[in-house]
Amino acid sequence: MSEHKTFTNDTIRPHGGTLVNRIVEGTEREQLIENAKSLHSIILNQWSLSDLNQWSLSDLELIGIGGFSPLTGFMNQADYESVVEHVHLKNGHVWSVPITLPVSQTEANNLEIGEQVALYGEDGTLYGVLDLEEKYTYDKEKEAQHVYGTTDNAHPGVKKVYEKGEYYLAGPIQLINRPQHDAFVDYHLDPLETRQLFNKLNWKTVVGFQTRNPVHRAHEYIQKSALEIVDGLLLNPLVGETKSDDIPAEVRMESYQAILKNYFPENRARLVIYPAAMRYAGPREAILHALVRQNYGCTHFIVGRDHAGVGDYYGTYEAQEFISQFENELDIQILKFEHAFYCEACGNMATAKTCPHDASNHLHLSGTKVREKLRNGESLPEKFSRPEVANVLIKGLKEK
Ligand code: ADX
Repeated sequence: MSEHKTFTNDTIRPHGGTLVNRIVEGTEREQLIENAKSLHSIILNQWSLSDLNQWSLSDLELIGIGGFSPLTGFMNQADYESVVEHVHLKNGHVWSVPITLPVSQTEANNLEIGEQVALYGEDGTLYGVLDLEEKYTYDKEKEAQHVYGTTDNAHPGVKKVYEKGEYYLAGPIQLINRPQHDAFVDYHLDPLETRQLFNKLNWKTVVGFQTRNPVHRAHEYIQKSALEIVDGLLLNPLVGETKSDDIPAEVRMESYQAILKNYFPENRARLVIYPAAMRYAGPREAILHALVRQNYGCTHFIVGRDHAGVGDYYGTYEAQEFISQFENELDIQILKFEHAFYCEACGNMATAKTCPHDASNHLHLSGTKVREKLRNGESLPEKFSRPEVANVLIKGLKEK
């Protein structure tokens, strides 16, 4: 917990002080692969009823590459309960979303504490190994209520909680193979590499921007407002699992390239993927998103309107209010933005802080509205989306 708050890249520490690296390489890796043949194994993500569940695999990757520093593995019961109830790890560091490895009771019964467990993907790849230190049951309703603020099964994150196996496995992991993210290879950097990139670009201050949507004009407005006060923007879209009506990551990635190329100075913004799954946990996820971006080397992080929200589960500024409670414990500065809109009378983007006109002049933009318009085959007005972005989206979605 820091006293001084200078927030430049020379001082930005990974969360907990050390950038975790659980990637095994060379002969150690060869040995582990050999040993894994005789280990009990589990298949990550198998518990999900939905086709696309990537939570466990993307969590494994993020632990391995240090995105989830200081975590070195899947949470034990003490950390899990402390996170669920108190938004802190047992060691006192802020943490808001449980990072756990669910399995069925049968799988749990087959495993002994102290053994190593091979972690395979559904594609048959050996991704990692877990040193099994604990297995425990948990209260799903309690997790849903505390982390998501609701026990409603219609919430996409809560639905996943209810689908999970009854047991969590805990212990440190080693990452043997990486999910490839082939489509995004030019934009795939680990936290260590983004830190090096920022140094190379001589960015002392960097604002991280989380998104699961194409960049619309409100996004661009808040990104550029932030760029007026920091050296660089890390456009860091989440490309892991999202709900099925979100725009696929491959299409979004093209749209990000289009907006950066046409509307941002070359040396002020970089696009790097965030290979995580979306939980839609609103306020809790805003904290997770901020901590991870700190690990990627950002000094600032944007939390705007209904950050990581879904439907009407969270209030417009609930994520901002929640993160404010923990701000003096964070080593990343939170930039909070009001709901931005296009104002016909101002002739530009604005918020209630900068625009005197009444609501009839305001065009409200959101990812949901962009998706709705695209689904209905409507064009995206320029006040909504840059034409280069709209073209990529329309073309990309047609091809899908
Ligand atoms: S999120 O689920 O990844 O948060 P989205 O991609 O829509 O969703 O939002 C990315 C970031 O932009 C979040 O910080 C969100 O709060 C912010 N944001 C989105 N739309 C607006 C808007 N109209 N005004 C202000 N902030 C916004």
